[in-house]
Amino acid sequence: MPRTAKSTTKTTSKSKATAKSRVTKSKSTAKNVDTDGFGKSALSDEVVLEVKNLETHFTTRWGTVKAVDGVSYHVRRGETLGIVGESGSGKSVTAFSLMRLVPSPPGKIVGGEVNLNGRELLGLSENEMTQVRGGEISMILQDPMQALNPVFNIENQVGEAIKIHQGLKGDSLWKKIVDSLQKVRIPAPDTRAKDFPHQLSGGMRQRVVGAIGISSAPSVIIADEPTTSLDVTIQAAYLRLLRQIQQEEGVAIIFITHDFGIVAKMCDRVAVMYAGRIVEVSDVRTIFNEPLHEYTKALIGSVPKLEEKTGRLPQIEGQPPLLYDLPEGDAFAPRSPLKFDEEDAKGRPPLVEVKPGHWVQLSKSSVADYDKFSHLIEK
Ligand SMILES: Nc1ncnc2c1ncn2[C@@H]1O[C@H](COP(=O)(O)OP(=O)(O)O)[C@@H](O)[C@H]1O
Ligand SMILES: [Mg+2]
Repeated sequence: MPRTAKSTTKTTSKSKATAKSRVTKSKSTAKNVDTDGFGKSALSDEVVLEVKNLETHFTTRWGTVKAVDGVSYHVRRGETLGIVGESGSGKSVTAFSLMRLVPSPPGKIVGGEVNLNGRELLGLSENEMTQVRGGEISMILQDPMQALNPVFNIENQVGEAIKIHQGLKGDSLWKKIVDSLQKVRIPAPDTRAKDFPHQLSGGMRQRVVGAIGISSAPSVIIADEPTTSLDVTIQAAYLRLLRQIQQEEGVAIIFITHDFGIVAKMCDRVAVMYAGRIVEVSDVRTIFNEPLHEYTKALIGSVPKLEEKTGRLPQIEGQPPLLYDLPEGDAFAPRSPLKFDEEDAKGRPPLVEVKPGHWVQLSKSSVADYDKFSHLIEK
């Protein structure tokens, strides 16, 4: 049995208790769930972010690229939602769309809603959005060197974010900078603040990026492949730190990764993306133990074993589709090991809730248990 699948079963009873409490409790009561010893998350029922039918297209000379093609999900306070999928499946463009940072042209958000703490973001002015960005919602970038400016010291870079969003100056600004560095466990923060990025180790730089991310006490942090450029030991320490911060601050994390091994350690729920659409969503235990979509199964099957864990991309049979030439129907059907069904080429398969909280894009070509659930499809 793969290591990840085994470690997930360990959390079974706890996850069940949480699922129940979500249904019965209407007030937002924080629940502690420890996923695989990587720290607890402060789950609650309160939805902080809701994305509905988001569509982001790019105009290219080959045609319109539907990078995000009708994506919907929600994230609760203190929850970690994993977004997984192969490279090119639209994970980052979805994240950039929430932040309204899609390069335009060639990109454009052409449809949908993004509701953060009860406020619709897609209609905000650019000025209002600047306040939201790095305030209520912030993003931790993949590469700490890319996220930090080499010519400014740490004090300046952490301070900049705080100045913009909290208007602090002088002593109170300095206090807040040191406090943010302390929260990400940077030793001797008042001395370290004077350092430049190149004077810090890779792990410390990653922490500084984390400090900038949490300095404004956001309700949502988007971490886009945050560990790719770090070695395995630093990765583990950083992931544990993210969980600690989450526990202390009650922040929701959207954790974007292609690594299902990390998902098992970090996430409460998982959304699996393929060709700009979500094909399956559920709690992490169900995704590992009872995946229904063949793409989810393939991704889980491709998790590298511990000894060969090199952070490389999962490899599954066949090629991801060309996003400018997508079939209207089930995009995974041509790669699925199941028998191809002509019907699936015609229209978009519906996303069906097969069990409370477990949604799957239901098509004959990609879901072996199709017949078991087909009665749930709304006619
Ligand atoms: N600037 C761009 N111009 C044209 N197409 C783009 C651009 N950025 C992203 N895309 C398209 O969006 C798709 C999804 O990209 P992305 O969200 O970065 O994938 P992921 O993060 O899942 O690896 C890509 O396959 C690419 O075709
Ligand atoms: Mg990406």
